[in-house]
Amino acid sequence: MRASPIITETECLKCHGDLSQAPRGLIKRYGLKNSFEWKEGDIIGVETVAIPLAVALSEIRGIAISTFIFAFATLLFLFISLQGAFWSLVSRPLTKLTTIFNGIVKGTEPLNQYLPINSKDEIGELTDSFNQMAKHLYNAQEDLKKNAETLRSIFEGISDPLALVNPDCSLEITNQAYREWVAKGVSAVFTKECHAENCDADTLCLICFLEKVMREKRAVSEYWEDYDGQFYYVHLYPISDDMGNVIKAIHYVKDITDKKQIEEHMRRAEKLAAVGQLSAGVAHEINNPLGGIKLCFNNLMTTEMDEDTKRMHVDVINVGLARIQDIVKQLLDFSKKSSLSVSPVSINGLIENVLMLTDYLISKKEIRVAKDLSTDIPEMMVDQNKMEQVFLNIILNAVQAMDGKPGTLAIGTLSDNGYCEISFTDTGQGIPEEVLLYIFDPFFTTKPVGEGTGLGLSVSKSIVEQHNGKITVETSEKGTRFTVRLPMPE
Ligand SMILES: Nc1ncnc2c1ncn2[C@@H]1O[C@H](COP(=O)(O)OP(=O)(O)OP(=O)(O)O)[C@@H](O)[C@H]1O
Ligand SMILES: [Mg+2]
Repeated sequence: MRASPIITETECLKCHGDLSQAPRGLIKRYGLKNSFEWKEGDIIGVETVAIPLAVALSEIRGIAISTFIFAFATLLFLFISLQGAFWSLVSRPLTKLTTIFNGIVKGTEPLNQYLPINSKDEIGELTDSFNQMAKHLYNAQEDLKKNAETLRSIFEGISDPLALVNPDCSLEITNQAYREWVAKGVSAVFTKECHAENCDADTLCLICFLEKVMREKRAVSEYWEDYDGQFYYVHLYPISDDMGNVIKAIHYVKDITDKKQIEEHMRRAEKLAAVGQLSAGVAHEINNPLGGIKLCFNNLMTTEMDEDTKRMHVDVINVGLARIQDIVKQLLDFSKKSSLSVSPVSINGLIENVLMLTDYLISKKEIRVAKDLSTDIPEMMVDQNKMEQVFLNIILNAVQAMDGKPGTLAIGTLSDNGYCEISFTDTGQGIPEEVLLYIFDPFFTTKPVGEGTGLGLSVSKSIVEQHNGKITVETSEKGTRFTVRLPMPE
């Protein structure tokens, strides 16, 4: 609604000004009251214009609704069309690619497949790249398979036992020879679990062995003799990661029984050759006293002599015969192992006996004897004569090694973990490496012909072994130590 005032203008006053001059018709029409005597500028009424809104609004609403419905329908149509286009052009090919990709990753789809390229857009390019990648991966996979196959056949083809071992001692891969070896029940295989309590450093324990490889990060090898007389050379090679930590190890076992047997044959052949050489020495050893015996015997038979001279001659014959008997006895001891006659014996007492026998020789050569004999050693079950012979051989060797210079012979006894250990340390010139290999061989000697038969240590070794003991040697330029280890009675 619009309202505006009606203001008296000059023109209006012509009829509505002075009543006396007002037209009769007007007076009759409006009457006298309020219709005359107006002044210019008076508000004599209000002009209003009103239009009803409800109609207009309902029209507007109708237009708005139809516009909205049209717009919505158009948008919906556009959305569906775009969605359809997007699905067929982008989503569908991408979904297909993704499905195949996932299948390849999971291994359910083969790698050697080719997806058709239906468009020349980005999707087409992506499909083409996928095809190339799949082809490349397929080729790489085939190469890997071939390499793995080759490695596998090399691994299987190695006739020595070979295995890849994890730090927990579990076997990752084994070859045929290793599996057969495990089946044979040979103990130096990884069949136990890795636990510190299973580790036994005194035997060829693979757990300790593996620990050593992990700790020292280097290959470790050991010789090992099986119960059935087979010899093995056992190796563990470390495999490290980029940081240098050992993550696995290769367990390689070489059966060296044949090699050992060949070595043994060679040693025997060497010994036979030594027997030939020895005959000259033995002949000389026996010939010397025989010469004296013969001379004395001839004198006795042909010359008149007093009783004292006769006695002297008989003594010389006796000493010579004893020497020959001694040599023959040593040879017999060497060739056959005579049985032991054991009795409870004090080892310290045995040593004192032998020292009494060698006292004169030792003091003549200006050798000092330093004894460190333990009182904890119980009486040992040994063959007294034979053990004396062992100690005598070792002491005589020591005295001979220190020949020419004053020196010290240290003799010690101690009890160690169920064993009695007797050591003889001299301050001689030591044993050169090339000699050390052979000192326990029968007939091996470095002494001049007639001074040594080379039987001393070989006989001693066999006597100690008959007592279930061990004889070992350590040597340097400063001297040599022989150690005899004998098991103590239970
Ligand atoms: N204490 C030692 N120091 C240096 N060399 C030694 C020692 N003991 C042994 N040998 C070496 O070992 C070799 C063999 O010793 P073994 O006692 O078997 O024979 P041998 O002493 O030569 O002769 P024998 O039969 O008279 O004992 C010796 O010739 C010597 O070279
Ligand atoms: Mg000797």
